[in-house]
Amino acid sequence: MSLLYTLTDRLAAALGAAGIDESLGLVTPSADTRFGDFQTNAAMVAAKALKKNPREVAASILAHLQVEDLCESPTVAGAGFINFKVHESALSEAVNALRNDRSLGVEMVKKPKTIIIDFSSPNVAKPMHVGHIRSTILGDSLTRIARHLGHQVITDNHIGDWGTQFGKVIYGWKHLLHRESLEQAPIAELVRLYREVNALEENDPALKEIVRHELVKLQQGDAENLEIWKQAVVLSWKEFERLYGLLGIIFDERLGESFYNDALGPLVDRLLAEGIAELSKGAVCIFFPELPALEEKPCLIRKSDGGFLYATTDLATIEYRESRWKPDAIWYVTGSPQQLHFEQVFAAARMMGVTTDLRHIAFGSILGEDRKMMKTRSGENVELGGLLNEAIERALAVVAEKNPDLPRTDQEEIAHLIGLGAVKYADLMQHRLTDYVFSWDKMLSFQGNTAPYLQNAYVRIRSIFRKAKSEGIAEGISSIPSESSPIVISDPSERTLALQILKFGEVLHAVLEDQRPNLLCLYLYELADSFHRFYEACPILKSEDPVRSSRMALAGLTADVLKTGLSLLGIGVPERM
Ligand code: ARG
Repeated sequence: MSLLYTLTDRLAAALGAAGIDESLGLVTPSADTRFGDFQTNAAMVAAKALKKNPREVAASILAHLQVEDLCESPTVAGAGFINFKVHESALSEAVNALRNDRSLGVEMVKKPKTIIIDFSSPNVAKPMHVGHIRSTILGDSLTRIARHLGHQVITDNHIGDWGTQFGKVIYGWKHLLHRESLEQAPIAELVRLYREVNALEENDPALKEIVRHELVKLQQGDAENLEIWKQAVVLSWKEFERLYGLLGIIFDERLGESFYNDALGPLVDRLLAEGIAELSKGAVCIFFPELPALEEKPCLIRKSDGGFLYATTDLATIEYRESRWKPDAIWYVTGSPQQLHFEQVFAAARMMGVTTDLRHIAFGSILGEDRKMMKTRSGENVELGGLLNEAIERALAVVAEKNPDLPRTDQEEIAHLIGLGAVKYADLMQHRLTDYVFSWDKMLSFQGNTAPYLQNAYVRIRSIFRKAKSEGIAEGISSIPSESSPIVISDPSERTLALQILKFGEVLHAVLEDQRPNLLCLYLYELADSFHRFYEACPILKSEDPVRSSRMALAGLTADVLKTGLSLLGIGVPERM
């Protein structure tokens, strides 16, 4: 068990013995390491509740606290903080235990859940924009982390493959299609048709009517229009899949909106019959008189012209998922502008008897350097394919400059890892709710909180091991001269690094608590930073055994945690760069 969890348990026991609420026993890493490695404010919180002096409460907690095997005698500081300084021997023992622990100290959750993660979900015949990029990166990382901790995750790409855009696409397909462009870049061609028809319609009410009629025909099952629709969806999927392949993402399910078409009519009728929905001016709505925030905001599920809405499909989707998977939770990774939509859908689902934990994992926007929504130079939405290609190209330029002698194919392979890693990391390192400014220079820099910086830390450690092998110090590039000699912590930089390595067991659980991969990014950045300090302060290959073996083992563990942590962000590591 991690040191922090062990201390938390011991503190809870002491609180119990002192007659204080055990749930106050929150232990955190120390803000200022001069006072110790861990701290708790339990005495201050308890004192407030009990209306007592915090230092007195602290003394009564200390009287019951049994941590001699782990720490020096805990001290009380300031207004009543209790500080813990871990014994060097306990620290050494804890990191040594990780050497034989393939999980690197990460415990599985005690009660695994079935979680459906609904993410990426772009729209057919509309370009995938930066919102979909964030959803894709964030959803993938959350999936990886939840699975790593033992949850059963089902990923579902709820693609927008049905909707009013198809009236324009079908009309465009019949009259304006460039076959060749469609084959080369289907999404771009479909978007072009959409835009062109849109522009033509503006000044031509008669055309608007014709386009609307194409949509009605599609909805009524006209064979020709259905065939066009089907081809548009298939071609778009092909291109989406290419991008997902590049990003290393595989979906378990790809049940788009159209999958639920037949369920919508019966669902609305049933909700009306059950009195959950009401007729209102010809339309069908679900009202929420008991929810003040939604009192004036009913959820519209059928328009007066008979058409269904985004929310209708989402309700049908929830019913389907409930009956097929009986999930404990459904997470929707979709931008903040859809907050109201999900509030309404979740409230309606609860009225329908759904008790599953439904969560909108919202996120902010990506901004251009001008701090406005990111657009291309010609003012269009930035689409994912172009963005990823540019990332790889820019990374290739950096790699080629740093390693001019490396064969081109190796340079390209490394550029893939760096370019895609940089884009993913720049997104994941931000608190998901904040908007951030997209900057190529920043994200591709080898300095600072970036993917290349972390990948480089990993590469540096691997090169130490390669050197050890070439100098005959170690047998293989993953081996340590004397595998059995323990890690011994003596230098302060070793202490900091060991403590940081041990935090890996906690951080993943913290990430899932409120779906924030940025905590893992920050953790990995601090790990790489502690490693660099250690590397500067403590010679590794130039020292003698057993110190050399100890330091190599510490470096090896750092590399393992970096590689595993980055993989949970969907980011790969090169062996050299
Ligand atoms: N296609 C939608 C959009 O682009 C996102 C779908 C999110 N998932 C859902 N079940 N509503 O905005």
